Amino acid sequence: MKSIYSLCLVTGAAGAVGSIVGQIAKIKGCRVIGFAGSDDKVEWLEKDLGFDKAINYKTSDVASALKEAAPKGVDCYFDNVGGEISSVIISQMNMFGRVALCGSISSYNEDASKMPKASILQPSIVFKQLKLEGFIVSRWFDRWHEAFAEIVQWIHEGKLVVREHVTEGFDNIYDAFIGMLAGENTGKAVVKV
Ligand SMILES: NC(=O)c1ccc[n+]([C@@H]2O[C@H](COP(=O)([O-])OP(=O)(O)OC[C@H]3O[C@@H](n4cnc5c(N)ncnc54)[C@H](OP(=O)(O)O)[C@@H]3O)[C@@H](O)[C@H]2O)c1
Repeated sequence: MKSIYSLCLVTGAAGAVGSIVGQIAKIKGCRVIGFAGSDDKVEWLEKDLGFDKAINYKTSDVASALKEAAPKGVDCYFDNVGGEISSVIISQMNMFGRVALCGSISSYNEDASKMPKASILQPSIVFKQLKLEGFIVSRWFDRWHEAFAEIVQWIHEGKLVVREHVTEGFDNIYDAFIGMLAGENTGKAVVKV
């Protein structure tokens, strides 16, 4: 089925979830833009995964880079990071756009009492009549077999590229976890024990 959404955006794009989401959006016929935190990740997304555009959010002005990459606005946003970047992206969404809220890694170490007020985003959400929905993987347990079948087929067909960032040894679990939060992984962070 072709997607009715022309421009899809994903943050945390070079991570385990984001890299798959972006590729599935491409398979479904969307134009896809990803945000990631290094030039190597940006190159991987564009050259190996077929993203139409990837942007290093650490070295770019997110608002102007996004305006340039998506002059007609964003129709669909898969949010892995929350925080400031997501506020900017949501403010550049089109009418009736859709947002899947998957994670907010940018704020996992934040003091909740100091987080920005949701009211900053409210005008965009209300006036553009956006639809925001939380995404929890466990809700879809009963359809995992469908996803596995399709994903495995796409991998065999070369349509979907998967990558793992492997850390060796049980004793290195802590470092692997902190490294993942700091963006050391490209693709799925795993620990081999
Ligand atoms: N809802 C669910 O069912 C579900 C299930 C699994 C995971 N999740 C969530 O999905 C998100 C992605 O998970 P994942 O397993 O695929 O992790 P991941 O993307 O493989 O790893 C985390 C990545 O987040 C990026 N990051 C860290 N701090 C950031 C910040 N302040 N702003 C922007 N990006 C930042 C880093 O990449 P950069 O180099 O690009 O900064 C890092 O590599 C997480 O928020 C996770 O909690 C949700």
